[in-house]
Amino acid sequence: SMPQQVRLVEVGPRDGLQNEKQPISVADKVRMVDDLSAAGLSYIEVGSFVSPKWVPQMAGSAEVFAAIQQKPGVTYAALAPNLKGFEGALEAGVKEVAVFAAASEGFSQKNINCSIAESLQRFEPIMAAAKEHGVRVRGYISCVLGCPIDGDVAPEQVAAIARELLDSGCYEVSLGDTIGVGTAGDTRRLIEVVGRDIDRRLLAGHFHDTYGQALANIHASLLEGVAVFDSSVAGLGGCPYAKGATGNVASEDVLYLLNGLGIETGVDMAALVQAGQHICNVLGKTNGSRVARALLAR
Ligand code: HMG
Ligand code: MG
Repeated sequence: SMPQQVRLVEVGPRDGLQNEKQPISVADKVRMVDDLSAAGLSYIEVGSFVSPKWVPQMAGSAEVFAAIQQKPGVTYAALAPNLKGFEGALEAGVKEVAVFAAASEGFSQKNINCSIAESLQRFEPIMAAAKEHGVRVRGYISCVLGCPIDGDVAPEQVAAIARELLDSGCYEVSLGDTIGVGTAGDTRRLIEVVGRDIDRRLLAGHFHDTYGQALANIHASLLEGVAVFDSSVAGLGGCPYAKGATGNVASEDVLYLLNGLGIETGVDMAALVQAGQHICNVLGKTNGSRVARALLAR
């Protein structure tokens, strides 16, 4: 049966903006995060503590953290690829970080410049430091339904990495269809395999919408008992290391789906649509959410 409540993880300020070539001011990023918390989102991925040479847009993440209005009950998270990144996050007062691995060797090299095994080793000191400082750690796995370099990915490989991330101390693992190639059938099979020895409540779905399959994949995941989904307001984004990949599924579109199913999220549609349209205006971009476009046209 489907979950009655879903937690939406808003990744727009991070996954949505990381690929933008134009400079975006700290003030605009702060406004975006504050608009999203005002819309009722309880989890916002604000930025990344990664190499500024690799992802220049995320270089100002500490300043963004310093200026946002931290609403009680809202989790403000950041990506940390290594101990240096974790220390930067800690210094910025971040209380939750995410480590990110890949299910394919090709993408691991391209995204974080090391093998899968090396990445998991690199996370160990992060997990230890996080424990010491009371920081929660979420885990990501990229390319769970296909890799832009290596092609097909076996669900068993995803399951093994998810197991390692949870064993090392991640409280949840987000399964990323980085290039948005997966279909609903692939998604159900993936969750069925990963869910064999992992509680589905410890899994999240992170679907990019490159092939227009993200909502179908979310519905398939719901049917398999997954109750946490990552999304990006206005469908912003793309991955710098996955050419041609579009943004995550739009948060507004996911909310519309969930509202229609009577599943609670605590998110206000009108406020979410305004938040998305505002950042689109700042970026000079067309809103990537079909639902936002429809509601704004009424
Ligand atoms: P590297 O070049 O192998 O690292 O990169 P290194 O340890 O050899 O260091 C090289 C330089 O980077 C040094 O500086 C370090 O100080 C610096 P230099 O001496 O040359 O001046 N450095 C750092 N600076 C700031 N913060 C840090 C940091 N670490 C090293 N944390 C590294 C390895 C992992 C650092 C690099 O590959 C990197 O930053 N990668 C990040 C890539 C990234 O952010 N990708 C996008 C996010 S993941 C994603 O979008 C997928 C997801 O959405 C799920 C999905 O959709 O699948 C999560
Ligand atoms: Mg992503």
